[in-house]
Amino acid sequence: MTTEVERARRLVAGAERIVVLTGAGISAESGVPTFRGAGGLWKSYRPEELATPEAFARDPRLVWEWYAWRRGLVANCAPNAGHLALAHLAFTHGSTTLVTQNVDGLHHRAAEEVAGEEDPRKAFPLEVHGAIHRDRCSRCGRRSPGRLDVDASTAETLPRCVECGGMLRPDVVWFGESLDPEVIGASFDAARAADLCLVVGTSAVVHPAASVPEVTLQSGGAVIEVNPESTPLTERATLSLRGSAGELLPALL
Ligand code: APR
Repeated sequence: MTTEVERARRLVAGAERIVVLTGAGISAESGVPTFRGAGGLWKSYRPEELATPEAFARDPRLVWEWYAWRRGLVANCAPNAGHLALAHLAFTHGSTTLVTQNVDGLHHRAAEEVAGEEDPRKAFPLEVHGAIHRDRCSRCGRRSPGRLDVDASTAETLPRCVECGGMLRPDVVWFGESLDPEVIGASFDAARAADLCLVVGTSAVVHPAASVPEVTLQSGGAVIEVNPESTPLTERATLSLRGSAGELLPALL
């Protein structure tokens, strides 16, 4: 075990309140593509054509085709050792708040897998960018469980709201849209109160989520970054560990 991992373990053991921020990198070892890394989704797809309200208004069929593909892909992935280690932390370390930018639901599944007698909700994350397995009506806002068999072959076959008949959309936050104020508010409250922020698998470029560790630093807390590559956060982190979430988190936690 490197001295850095030992130092990180001591920081975790000594922390009273922990906030964890995760990004696409924690799900990479589960087979979920990241966005900006090698083989990342934005390398082969244009976000402005697929992940904006304008794109959905312009061509809902194309957007649904892409989200139906991602929904199917994610449904066939399982939480990895990184997700499980964080769920374990949330059950064993009194005050831990998980905040995720991911829409894949793998943290929830890890919580259910690790919970045992515990209430799995204790390890459910704040999903600041929504959830891909859920739908939301683009007219009345009603949320409902998403279907895996969305037929995006024509605009007529796209899913409709059972209440108002409005077009359903995946319940994710698109570029140019604001986040749910309650969810991001709770994330910043946890970051402000934390004496340690653990940042895992994010390129730390998309705000406001990327500001979570900054809030902890500003209130005198420490930051541990876990990422095979350096990011804009690296120089300000208390410790930045190079490696994958699936390997480092079990060693750390
Ligand atoms: N373990 C840890 N980190 C990893 C691993 C791994 N196995 N594999 C890759 N990474 C790192 C990459 O080095 C990169 O820094 O994960 C990061 C993934 O960065 P992005 O693809 O930019 O994903 P993320 O930071 O979550 O993106 C933020 O942008 O596209 C939007 O809404 C989308 O939530 C997303 C947001």
